[in-house]
Order: sequence, then C-alpha cells, then structure tokens
Amino acid sequence: MNQNISIKKTQNSRLKDVDFENLPFGRLFSDHMFMVDYVDGEWKEPQIVPYGSISIEPSNMALHYGQAVFEGMKATKTADGKAMLFRPEQHSRRINASAARLAMPELPESIFLDAVHTLVNLDKGWIPPAEGSALYIRPFMFATDHSVGVRPSNSYKFMIFTCPVGPYYAKPVKLLAETKYVRAATGGVGESKAAGNYAAAMLPALLAQQKGYDQVLWLDAKEFKYVQEVGTMNIFFVIDGKVHTPMISGTILRGITRNSIITFLKDAGYEVVERRISIDEIVEAHENGTLTEAFGSGTAAVISHVQSILYNNVEITLPPVDDREIGPWVKNQINGVRSGRITDSKGWLIEAGQHSAAAIEV
Ligand code: COI
Repeated sequence: MNQNISIKKTQNSRLKDVDFENLPFGRLFSDHMFMVDYVDGEWKEPQIVPYGSISIEPSNMALHYGQAVFEGMKATKTADGKAMLFRPEQHSRRINASAARLAMPELPESIFLDAVHTLVNLDKGWIPPAEGSALYIRPFMFATDHSVGVRPSNSYKFMIFTCPVGPYYAKPVKLLAETKYVRAATGGVGESKAAGNYAAAMLPALLAQQKGYDQVLWLDAKEFKYVQEVGTMNIFFVIDGKVHTPMISGTILRGITRNSIITFLKDAGYEVVERRISIDEIVEAHENGTLTEAFGSGTAAVISHVQSILYNNVEITLPPVDDREIGPWVKNQINGVRSGRITDSKGWLIEAGQHSAAAIEV
C-alpha cells in the first residue's frame, strides 16, 4: 500500500470536557480513530475518522472464532509540550508476530507507524500532562469475513483508538498464584496478544477478585510449579539483591516494558537473571528473608509493586514500598524517560508526527 491517509476531523471535539485530574482507565476515548481494511490480499483505504461505532454482521468471524489480536502502547508529553511515542516499532513487530500465530496477515510497519504517528499527532491535546499518566494507544486487528465455516478469514480490519489514562493500579497489588486454571501451555498462543488469551483469564481473575486479590499469578500448565506472568503484566522478583524474571519461553508475553526495564537495570549495574522460577523458591526466599521486592511490568501497568502473593495457604507479604530500592528506581526511570525528565540514551522516545504519511483532509 502506498496510499495517503484520508482524514475526516470531528466537528465536535470532546476534549474540553476532559478532567485530566480524574482519568478512569480506558473508558474515555479521544476524538479520532484510524482504520484500514485488508481485502483481496491488500491493505486498502487508510482513514482517520471521528471516534465512533462501526457496523459488523452477526456472522463476523472474529466474533465466533476469535481471530483478533491487539497491542497496548503509550504516548506521553514532555515538559515543553512535545508528544512522544515509546518504541513504536516494537509494537508493530509484536502485533505482526501475534497476527502470524493466528493465521492473520501482517500489517507493513510503515502503515502501522504512519497511522500511530498521524493519529497521536492529531489528538495530542488528549495526552495528559502529569508524569505517570499517558495517552493509551490501542491498535488491534480482527477478522471481517462473514462465514460460519472454521477457516482463516480472507478479510481483516486494523484499527487504532486512544484514551487518556492515569495509572492502571492505584496501589500495590495482591496476587493469587493460580493452582486450578492455566493461561498458556507450550506450543499454544501464550506469547501472542490474542484477544482470546484475555477471555480465558476472565473467570480465574474474577474468582481471585472475589477472594480479595487484584490479579492472578499464572503458573505453568504442566506442573503448576513455574511462575509465568500476572494477568496484566510480566513479573519480577528481587532475591538477594538480584532481579529475577521468568525467561521468554513461548508461554509468556514478550513485554516491551519488560525488555526496556531489563535494559535500564543492566545499564545501571543491577544483575538481572531471566530463568525458570519455581513458586516454591519464592516461598522459600520469603521464609529466609531474601525476597525483598516483587513488581510487575506492562504498558498499562508500567511498574506496579506487588504487596502480597497467596500460594495455596501461604501468604507471602512483601516489605512496604518505601523500604524497596529497585522497583521504585526502575519505575522512576521509565516514567522519567517517557516524560523527558531523564535522558533517553537509547533513542526509544520518538516524537509523534515524525513518521506521518502524506494525509489528505476530507
Ligand atoms: C497493556 O499493558 O497494554 C495490555 O494490553 C494489558 C491490558 C491489561 C491492558
């Protein structure tokens, strides 16, 4: 595709009604959205239009067989008012890896980047100014064939909408290590951001919430022994001053925040070990006093400190956040780089608008 994005601007911006001091996570949507269709083997007619409903038929295949993948990324504002994206090309690559696993077509990186840059630049007034807040960007792709036969769809829609958000978790999280249900098995789709992964996690997460826990800590599908990730983020433990996190193995999400903070930590001289971590080892480290911190990482969650983990009948309570070093340091690092307060030595922060294709206003 080498087409201009057609842009139809809203005549009725809702921006003036936004209370940036009180942002619910993911329930307020900014003025515009992007969409492009995959038909006859080609991505066609990229457009930005006012945010609103789209129509699909009841026989839409994504509704029945779940060919739907998504991404989560963020735009932030620097002190001098520039709209910045964080490692956007990584999100383009990851949605394509997710799509490939679900037999969906890849979206060329240039279309993804043109779309994100143009949309965020257009709606940059929606980026909350406070550090730690952001414009959450949700790119997603889904099947659009109308058919009941089980097969990959021939047509797809890729869309992006955005929402101004504050922190996903307002306080340290309580986790329940899940010993009945599983999220991902070797050879499955655990590494993909497939919509169905999140659907399958809803019941266990709900049951955990009913018991007073914020989220599930997933264990491996074979032995219920090795830690995988939390429902909304990758997981890190600080044991004996070293940072330990489950290795990439096909069953956990290849977190872009995970990768970024491993890099920040290593550059700062912390030792980071990516390996198989058993839940028994976490219990033992807690009992012998060497487990000093646990935190999750994700686009939405950023760095969320873990308050406690329940495993069978053992409650692992972590020290207060004020007594921790590494989690708070890395949270400050990622938020500081995103806001421009800390120098971005990696070139990960990219100004929105720098990759825009020629756009035609209609
Ligand atoms: C993200 O972190 O962007 C995600 O997609 C996770 C979801 C829980 C919001």
